Amino acid sequence: MKLLCSVIALAAASANDPNDFMKRKSKLLHWHPSVGQVLKEQDNYVVTEDDVADWQACGDNAVCTNGRGWNFECACAEGYLDFDPSSYRKFGACVYDSCADTTCQDNASCSVSADGAASCACDDDYYYESVEQFDADGNSTGFADTCYFDACAEDPCADNTDCANDAGSAVCSCSAGFFDYAGDASNCVPDACGSSDDCSADATCTVELPDVNGTAQWSCDCDDGFYGDGVTCYVDSCSEDPCQADSTCANDMNDYSCTCNAGFYLGADVNGTDFCWTDVCDSANPCSADAACANQADGSQECSCNDGFKGDGYECTNIAGERAANILARAAEFEATAAADLVNDTRAAGRVQKALNAFNNDIFFVSEWTQGCYNNGDLQADAAEAADLESSEELLGWDSDDLCAFADDLQTAAKRFARSFACVSSFGYNAEKNMAFNTKRVHKQLKRQNKKLKNFGKKIDAALDC
Ligand SMILES: *[C@@H]1O[C@H](CO)[C@@H](O)[C@H](O)[C@H]1NC(C)=O
Ligand SMILES: *[C@@H]1O[C@H](CO)[C@@H](O)[C@H](O)[C@H]1NC(C)=O
Ligand SMILES: *[C@@H]1O[C@H](CO)[C@@H](O)[C@H](O)[C@H]1NC(C)=O
Ligand SMILES: *[C@@H]1O[C@H](CO)[C@@H](O)[C@H](O)[C@H]1NC(C)=O
Ligand SMILES: *[C@@H]1O[C@H](CO)[C@@H](O)[C@H](O)[C@H]1NC(C)=O
Repeated sequence: MKLLCSVIALAAASANDPNDFMKRKSKLLHWHPSVGQVLKEQDNYVVTEDDVADWQACGDNAVCTNGRGWNFECACAEGYLDFDPSSYRKFGACVYDSCADTTCQDNASCSVSADGAASCACDDDYYYESVEQFDADGNSTGFADTCYFDACAEDPCADNTDCANDAGSAVCSCSAGFFDYAGDASNCVPDACGSSDDCSADATCTVELPDVNGTAQWSCDCDDGFYGDGVTCYVDSCSEDPCQADSTCANDMNDYSCTCNAGFYLGADVNGTDFCWTDVCDSANPCSADAACANQADGSQECSCNDGFKGDGYECTNIAGERAANILARAAEFEATAAADLVNDTRAAGRVQKALNAFNNDIFFVSEWTQGCYNNGDLQADAAEAADLESSEELLGWDSDDLCAFADDLQTAAKRFARSFACVSSFGYNAEKNMAFNTKRVHKQLKRQNKKLKNFGKKIDAALDC
């Protein structure tokens, strides 16, 4: 480095001191005293080695060269740095460049301070970090001062993030108030969870992607032990398995209900506690096929004969069938009596027999079909008639000595029987008949048979001259 030194006016204050004299002269003039030189102006002072070092125009470690006229120039010697170019060379502004003896770490540069000390500093775009080092075994080998590239300077992070350098790599993290949606700071969305979310106190808020307009979104999920839409959460009572065995629990707000599983019904155990009993009526019905089975609260079953049947529920008799059997039995009785009475009147006996055959056939026919109705659960009985018939009492106390009266009773019983039962809609006595007859035809047939039964009385009357 070259500098033009300005000329300083000579001061006369200490004109008699050879030191001052030489200082002033060396400053003013391009004058280099040499060892042993005699200064006549200073009483023949002999210049010493120290003087030469002390009085040189430029400072230590500087090289002086002539300038124009009175001027001279000083430059730091090679290997020295000029720390104070404006100051006078004499006073030691040239400092040894100790960086020559210094090796800085990668991406760092060395600099020398005014006191000659070398120091290393990271280059632009690099920053200093002391990072713990590890050997192949994973043992720490101490800390290394390293100049790492300032990766954050390249703004590598997504929007709404903070960048932090870590050993030369940029580490991005969502800024305060933003939520790391993707988990890698690539999508930091407004954190809508917090004081303004509307989640239940028993729910967990989750930040969702903003909508198309960038409005923050969130969702609420009820915590374990709760259920609901997240805004309102109810106690999940069912999670504690509060129901009796063989039942299913259903929450109802903060309450719950238990419903017996399929194949079970709700009753109570001996202590009156809700209990799901096996639906025996369904799985192992002990009742008659013609009876209704009803499960009881204590787990037992009650059987009751269907309409048109009577019995204890385990055995049920078809009322129509029994009724027909009773009438036929009395008809047989009538037949025997008539045969005995008419033993000497073969013609009358023949007419009675014929009428009886038709009667029996008609009774049997009606009976057969009406039982079919019963079996189908589809028989309509005149309530009063059916109740009477059920008792069978009307069949008792007939006058079997008087054939005309006997025939009247039979006729009455047959009429009541015939009009007491009627199939109402479908007919299902058996598959074959079901296919062969439709309901309408059966009704028609029953009507015809009933009419024929009415004729029985007339025929008997005619035969017996009643
Ligand atoms: C930083 O140091 C490394 C390792 O010596 C070197 O490869 C890289 O070029 C340096 N970077 C710059 C910008 O000089
Ligand atoms: C380094 O680690 C290995 C295995 O973890 C261990 O056995 C060894 O003693 C450690 N060496 C030192 C010097 O701590
Ligand atoms: C977005 O903004 C437009 C215009 O204000 C509005 O019509 C639309 O409903 C907004 N969409 C949503 C999802 O909020
Ligand atoms: C009924 O209560 C008694 C007395 O608390 C108890 O010992 C018994 O186990 C209970 N029975 C049932 C079926 O819960
Ligand atoms: C039938 O005739 C015989 C002989 O004539 C007679 O003895 C009998 O009593 C008659 N029977 C009846 C029931 O009239």
